[in-house]
Amino acid sequence: MAFEEMWRELLPIGRSSSSGGYFRQPWTSAEREMAAWFADAARSRGLRLAEDGVGNVVAWWDPPASGEDGQTERRAAAEQAVLTGSHLDSVPDGGAYDGPLGVVTALAAIDQLRSRGFVPQRRLGVAVFVEEEGSRFGLACLGSRLATGVTTWESVRGLTDRAGVRLGDVVSGGGSRLLEGVSAYVELHVEQGRGLVDLGQPVGVASGIWPHGRWRFDVAGAADHAGTTRMEDRRDPMLTYAMTALAANKQARLAGQRATFGRVEVTPNGTNAVPSHVAAWLDARAASEEALAALVEAITAQASARAERDGTSLVVTPESISDAVSFDVRLRDRVAGGRPVLATQAGHDAGVLQAAGIPSAMLFVRNPTGISHSPAESAQMADCLAGVDALADVLARLAGTEDAG
Ligand code: GLV
Ligand code: MN
Ligand code: MN
Repeated sequence: MAFEEMWRELLPIGRSSSSGGYFRQPWTSAEREMAAWFADAARSRGLRLAEDGVGNVVAWWDPPASGEDGQTERRAAAEQAVLTGSHLDSVPDGGAYDGPLGVVTALAAIDQLRSRGFVPQRRLGVAVFVEEEGSRFGLACLGSRLATGVTTWESVRGLTDRAGVRLGDVVSGGGSRLLEGVSAYVELHVEQGRGLVDLGQPVGVASGIWPHGRWRFDVAGAADHAGTTRMEDRRDPMLTYAMTALAANKQARLAGQRATFGRVEVTPNGTNAVPSHVAAWLDARAASEEALAALVEAITAQASARAERDGTSLVVTPESISDAVSFDVRLRDRVAGGRPVLATQAGHDAGVLQAAGIPSAMLFVRNPTGISHSPAESAQMADCLAGVDALADVLARLAGTEDAG
């Protein structure tokens, strides 16, 4: 099935009829429909599906068999493997491309390799990692963190979603050997900025990922009547939060960094009541780990000073930290083939695999709007197809006769 046809099949899944954006929340119906679609697509290609206890899946194209039944799988599992793929979940009201583009181009690249008569010399897999966005349980790249072992199941099974549902009650978790033998991972992704637009190039390559993280700010005050409580008698956590959001924006702008409060929960959330509590989540990113630490420290210091003035109390809790990533230079050079190399401020499973010691690389496909995590995210069909060609060439080299590492 051609890329265009696969893409059309996925377009209605999880799409909002009002905004046109997508919410494919991990382990809920739209995302599970995407996962079922992927399993069908893999089976119809004769790929061997492997899944772990949280729902990370790899569809393997094994090298030709020799020997008795059962031996091929065992032998293949021990050998070097080349992996591609991405994720199928989305942020709330996200775009169509972030994640699915890497999965669908991977399947299309396999189709292209087969039609070229290519025969893999080592296992070639298409991976779908769960909860890449961390939209449900708060930890970015949850699936790939567990698959690589950089995060343990014990440390995350008690995480709760917004409805209080525990991760351990959604999936069984458990050990995984899904990535055993993987010696290279190449993830194709829509670009989430305008780097390629500015360069007039359809496809580029990633150099690395800015360190980034999420911090929960809990501000507690005192609930009271919006009319009868004199302004000077209030302990209003909304004021502490509001000033913190402004301070975060200013700090980040001054230093050329990124700071965003994109999620707030107000209790009790009544129009005519001073709130008792505000929980707000800071997403912060900077060019170095030192700069990121300094940014979060500066924001926290300003929030604390303001809390003192407001008579509120503040607790800051880190929820998801992703260190700086530099992709494997040798692999990057082999993937680049003269294409532009760009740094990114967005997190990816490829960053987690690289940090876990699996040489990784990323291909970016031009995004005309440069917008992402929004219904306005976009890519031209011709550029997506250029991405398929680029990925197929890279996979042919890595899973063919060349050394994969
Ligand atoms: C993932 O898309 C992130 O950068 O938050
Ligand atoms: Mn994303
Ligand atoms: Mn993504």
